[in-house]
Amino acid sequence: MATDERSQEISRRGFLKSTAMGGAGLVIAADVLSSSLRADTRVAADTPKSAHSTMMGVPFEARERVRLGIIGVGGRGSSLLQDLLAVEKVDVKAICDLVPEKVAKAQKAVTDAGQAEPRGFSKGELDFKNLTELDLDIVYIATPWNWHVPMALAAMKNGKHAAVEVPACTTLQECWDVVDTSEATRKHCVILENCCYGDTEMMVLGMVRDGVFGEITHGEAAYLHDLRAILTENEGEGLWRRFPHMKRNGNLYPTHGLGPVAHYMDIHRGDRFDYMVSVSSSEASLSAYVKAKFPDGDPKRAEKYICGDMNTSIIKTQKGRTILLQHDVVNPRPYSRLNSISGSKGIFSDYPARIFIDGKKKADGSDDEDWQNFEAFREKYEHPLWKKTGELARKMGGHGGMDYVMNYRLMDCLKRGLVPDINVYDAAAWSAPTPLSEASVAQNGASQKFPDFTRGKWGGQPDRPGFAVQT
Ligand SMILES: NC(=O)c1ccc[n+]([C@@H]2O[C@H](COP(=O)([O-])OP(=O)(O)OC[C@H]3O[C@@H](n4cnc5c(N)ncnc54)[C@H](O)[C@@H]3O)[C@@H](O)[C@H]2O)c1
Repeated sequence: MATDERSQEISRRGFLKSTAMGGAGLVIAADVLSSSLRADTRVAADTPKSAHSTMMGVPFEARERVRLGIIGVGGRGSSLLQDLLAVEKVDVKAICDLVPEKVAKAQKAVTDAGQAEPRGFSKGELDFKNLTELDLDIVYIATPWNWHVPMALAAMKNGKHAAVEVPACTTLQECWDVVDTSEATRKHCVILENCCYGDTEMMVLGMVRDGVFGEITHGEAAYLHDLRAILTENEGEGLWRRFPHMKRNGNLYPTHGLGPVAHYMDIHRGDRFDYMVSVSSSEASLSAYVKAKFPDGDPKRAEKYICGDMNTSIIKTQKGRTILLQHDVVNPRPYSRLNSISGSKGIFSDYPARIFIDGKKKADGSDDEDWQNFEAFREKYEHPLWKKTGELARKMGGHGGMDYVMNYRLMDCLKRGLVPDINVYDAAAWSAPTPLSEASVAQNGASQKFPDFTRGKWGGQPDRPGFAVQT
């Protein structure tokens, strides 16, 4: 389906209606999401042939400065903008959002940073297409999930690289759409998985590659974050992010935990996800929260949530490794992405960061089974990117600094003409657990095959995420 038709299809369903309220724009979700309403026409094992060659190992074209446009300047887009304004030789040329006030605020942030005023686009939900027709190098996309793919396709078809927020895609059809379009247009579609750039994650990646944990056999990944307040507020994500909970039962947000573990396991650079099984618990927390928070008569009280509070999946890789993958955004609990990796010589486990290395003795010479101190490895393994940018990254603050490091690194790759750390195949495979978990849950945990989005090109290491070496 062409981008135009696709966008119009979404519009026809009346996904979003804009209305001005009290001077500030308020976007009201008029229809529940989106892609989950579209039939997922692909079956998992279906690997279509392509007339085009792979995007694995394809570098960006080098350039002196990066010309950039952003679609969506809500909570996330505004934060990305602040980071990008702090990176040298990046010109923010265009801003798009449904809400004119948000565009104006972002334009002011750009001029306050000493740059020329960027073009603004806020004439309806398809105005983003006009932004993608400008002279730009890359388009950042930080909109609700159902808009990611139509916007990324428009950017690539108009000759721009796309950088898409998480999850990049919500159906297998969308996964293939970004892969096919990236290959056909020779433009990258990068998923903005900031967690791959965390201080801890980058240290652990270096340790994995140095063999500290031996042969890697198992990883654990999750998004465990109490979002009940955010999901039910009358602004920001509360206007759209709760609706998938009424339509889908599975892992709605797989990439924050999975991205770093995929890097530890060299997924698409020597291994790939093969199949997964998934089960969901019953639903209780979101409905209980809504009943406690909103008075009788509030329309939210009539909503029926079908997404189980805790979704648990296990992914098996071609090389026989396993990954535990969990999703829970509604239970009261401390934050965790699990972020664990283990092998024949030891284990790293996060929240809090701990390590156990086989045979390492305590100071008094005794062996025991206690966790050892992860910080003791910092001097040797702190990542060069964090050594270089960590002070500013921490000052910028976005998610402990990982946001700035990600943005700095992506802009650096664009300027220097490097292969991006994360490519369209990663965007597709890290997002695919949403439809695959949904299918597995619906079939009592039956195994679901991952499509090979690389079309057989996962075995080598042509563009092994370079950030460990190309700094
Ligand atoms: N990587 C992270 O740590 C992280 C953190 C938060 C959010 N996110 C992701 O970022 C994305 C945006 O989330 P958010 O928290 O900013 O949500 P938000 O609701 O605060 O912002 C979304 C913005 O998109 C705009 N928008 C919607 N449809 C549009 C259209 N057709 N054209 C132009 N603008 C449109 C809205 O007006 C809004 O300003 C989501 O995909 C979310 O999952 C990622």
